[in-house]
Amino acid sequence: MSDNNSIYTDTFSDSGIPVEEPQRQQFFMQKARKIAEEKARELGRPLRAMVKTYGCQMNERDSEKLRGILDQIGYELCQDEDSDLVLYNTCTVRENANLKVYGRLGYLGGLKKKNPHMIIALCGCMMQEPEVVEKIRTSYRFVDLVFGTHNIYKFAELLSVAMISDRMIIDIWKDTDKIVEDLPAKRTYSFKSGVNIMFGCNNFCTYCIVPYVRGRERSRTPEAIICEMERLAADGVVEVMLLGQNVNSYGKDLEKPVSFASLLRMAENVSGIQRIRFMTPHPKDLSDELIEVMKTSHKICPHMHLPLQSGSSRLLKKMNRHYTKEGYLALCEKLRAAMPDISLTTDIIVGFPGETEEDFQDTLDVVRQVRYDSAFTFIYSKRTGTPAAAWDDQIPEDVVKDRFDRLLALVQETGRERSARFLGKRMGVLAEHVNEQDPSLITGRLDNNLVVHFPGDASMIGKIIDVTLTECKGFYYFGEV
Ligand code: SAH
Ligand code: SF4
Ligand code: F3S
Repeated sequence: MSDNNSIYTDTFSDSGIPVEEPQRQQFFMQKARKIAEEKARELGRPLRAMVKTYGCQMNERDSEKLRGILDQIGYELCQDEDSDLVLYNTCTVRENANLKVYGRLGYLGGLKKKNPHMIIALCGCMMQEPEVVEKIRTSYRFVDLVFGTHNIYKFAELLSVAMISDRMIIDIWKDTDKIVEDLPAKRTYSFKSGVNIMFGCNNFCTYCIVPYVRGRERSRTPEAIICEMERLAADGVVEVMLLGQNVNSYGKDLEKPVSFASLLRMAENVSGIQRIRFMTPHPKDLSDELIEVMKTSHKICPHMHLPLQSGSSRLLKKMNRHYTKEGYLALCEKLRAAMPDISLTTDIIVGFPGETEEDFQDTLDVVRQVRYDSAFTFIYSKRTGTPAAAWDDQIPEDVVKDRFDRLLALVQETGRERSARFLGKRMGVLAEHVNEQDPSLITGRLDNNLVVHFPGDASMIGKIIDVTLTECKGFYYFGEV
């Protein structure tokens, strides 16, 4: 489906609905607000909404935008599923992400029996899969609204319809070339924020479903990104994370192409922003220019999350990753030569179709050589529609489990050793929250992303505090101000 207005015009008969975005969505926020106010009056209390996020930082950021819209409509935001509106922003990168959502939906169905006016809505990557939508349509008939990743900016419009309709509203688009700017967002943290720099992915790694559910790469203009950063800084944000599936290919699709390294240079000039992170760079496109910018920057954090996926050149080829074991190792050396203290972290998949013990040994070898600060390890999950899912050399579960355990043990051992290298140093920690176990402690992060607990109080939150790292507990530190 392309941009069409049929769902709305079938439901309402207003004239004067703006055609342009974001004015159109602003119009619908007002419209939904009136409906919500009436309902709240009827109930004699404000309406409450919760948004639950599955998946990656990009989904987290999308959820902040969805919460921004709900806030404008007048919902009180909460973290309780027993509320008037529940929206799940889903992920489908691995099978277990899907299973969690189905499990939770059963529970929501029960809540809705007690509270029939409750609105249950689903969005995000999982909804871009036709089988999923079909299953919801037939087996979870109590769901009120289903939309996808490409029309997420239309949430206010779709919700206006769902609020007054008895049927399940489903609106999924195959793709879009549109980026809608200037919609509201409600941040989880006052002092840090994700900033989308691009959407979609063009890489089609053979195991990965993301390009199918997020569409092709679309970059935001540098002007829009910097303007958002300036607004965030004015609103108290000191740390931003620039988000994209492959940030190294940022800007190639723009009318006036801009490299990711140039974008970082511009971002460096936004006053008030003290730390800049990014996620995720693809090893195949990591330029010398980027390394140079990182090296000379005062704000870009000395941390690179550089997904390896596999250490076997043979498998990397089958994965369509466009780099080899040797190329990857050389890149890590180059990064360490330029920035000796840089933290390297990664993602690794175990049990990709056709993986032999020898391939797996190559993965262990890269982990030993690079000595990551930490690594996310995943068991390969077959995703319908991806090339690798159709291959017949899938690896038996017991073999995968055994490899996974060996990899995890190694990753934890090297991570623990590496993390200790800052012991005794005095470093800046961004104070993030009061420690849940011990309220006399504040928990924060070093620029390299390591966690530090130190004595302090809530007034420190959002500030970068100088802390001496007195004790290393494996993957985190205790410190003193
Ligand atoms: N764009 C990023 C990663 C996005 S998905 C990149 O290219 O690195 C995050 C991680 O999920 C991936 O790095 C990969 O390790 C893992 N992943 C993706 N598809 C998977 C699958 N089918 N099975 C298991 N892990 C997968
Ligand atoms: Fe998936 Fe590969 Fe794109 Fe990352 S680069 S999102 S792993 S297809
Ligand atoms: Fe999941 Fe979609 Fe992110 S599939 S990992 S939420 S892009």
